[in-house]
Amino acid sequence: MAAVSALTAATVALVGLAAPAHAADPVLRDLAAAKGIYYGTAVTSSKLSGTYGAVTGAQFDSITPANEMKWGTVEPNRGSFNWAGADRVVDFAEANGQQVRGHTLVWHSQMPNWLANGSFSNTELRTIMTDHVTTEVTRYKGRIDHWDVVNEPLNEDGTMRGSKFYNQLGESYIADAFRAARAADPAAKLYINDYNTDGTGPKSNGMYSLVQRLKAQGVPIDGVGFQGHLILGQVPATLQANLQRFADLGVEVAITELDIRMTLPATDAKLAQQKTEFKAVTNACLAVARCAGVTVWGFTDSDSWIPDVFPGEGAATPYDAGFQPKPAYYGIAEALGWTGDGGGGDPTPTTGCAVTYAVQSQWNTGFTANVTVRNTGSSPVNGWTLRWTWPSGQSVTQAWNATVTQSGAQATAVNAAHNAAIVPGGSATFGFNGAWSGGNTAPGAFTLNGAACAVALS
Ligand code: XIL
Repeated sequence: MAAVSALTAATVALVGLAAPAHAADPVLRDLAAAKGIYYGTAVTSSKLSGTYGAVTGAQFDSITPANEMKWGTVEPNRGSFNWAGADRVVDFAEANGQQVRGHTLVWHSQMPNWLANGSFSNTELRTIMTDHVTTEVTRYKGRIDHWDVVNEPLNEDGTMRGSKFYNQLGESYIADAFRAARAADPAAKLYINDYNTDGTGPKSNGMYSLVQRLKAQGVPIDGVGFQGHLILGQVPATLQANLQRFADLGVEVAITELDIRMTLPATDAKLAQQKTEFKAVTNACLAVARCAGVTVWGFTDSDSWIPDVFPGEGAATPYDAGFQPKPAYYGIAEALGWTGDGGGGDPTPTTGCAVTYAVQSQWNTGFTANVTVRNTGSSPVNGWTLRWTWPSGQSVTQAWNATVTQSGAQATAVNAAHNAAIVPGGSATFGFNGAWSGGNTAPGAFTLNGAACAVALS
């Protein structure tokens, strides 16, 4: 069924009203700096304003463009360059006193079509690659602290991935890329980066041997990036030991793309577990002297690649989609030495909600219902989105005290200006008219800002 009251400009403006954080919230970048590491986030350049920009600037001291420096973005057609997004990220970082991780120069994925589908002699391909590295690194010379020079060079069994570069040039493509990058910007720290290398195992053994070979050949490699795309409940127990063995090779290490995904919906229990795991990963970096820092791959669930790539999974970042800090955020802060406002006990505010759904009246094909959302946690809710799925094909036709839209069977209610804030113990109520046919079964589950609520029917 079609949406009811369309998402209006007024609704969009409301998003900006949602307070980014609570007054007493810790500042991750300051805590991290005091511990001698950086705390970074991947960003989407077009979003760097409003609340998204404010949180990025306030909380993180390193940013990584999620896509804007990839080859397919910067050189979509051979010889024609698009630096707009990359420039915006670097300018933002400088305006906010942040480092930049450049990501990424040589990768089998997100290549421009002309490169991916073109056929080139080996000599030509090598020159194309080193020219690309030289051009991009030179453009940002002196402004990028860490470069992911080569991304994802390995197969899961630790052998070399059969990328276009490897297939034509052999392993020497890696050495050539690093040498070109070093020549273009001697001050940047040059990294190799991969996923599923976080714990010990065949793939990280492959990376270990590769780094040993590169070092033995005198290749200018400074660091190894561990992406850290992790699954709730599956953080490798060997993470710290693995980081340490690479550090012992004489390179820096960093967690470069941390997210911890879960099967949706998020529940309080899952979010509590996620807090423990963000804390553990941060602690692993802190425990390794050569660990330079941690970057989360998007700081908010509204800017995460997970739901697009892993259907049914998400809630993988430290802030919810409404820019409210999740337990994971406090877990990071605690690892970084934050002890809360009083220092006593667990300082993490609790979150929780309870929904009362009541049909007020019903007629042949229509009905009127009221929904009350209660904040059962100890922290305020500043801006809310309530979602539910209709069990028997109902749809919302008109709403008041909230803006309700519908996509398929899923209804989404966003607060009105006057009921955006719900203090602990407080509630917000909205109502709507709906249409039904065949049945009008009440929804059995609701999520508030992505987390499941207790449900009371009346
Ligand atoms: C992802 C981006 O976040 C998405 O927006 C894009 O559609 C695909 O790439 N490993 C990497 C990152 O090194 O570049 C990827 O980023 C995530 C996996």
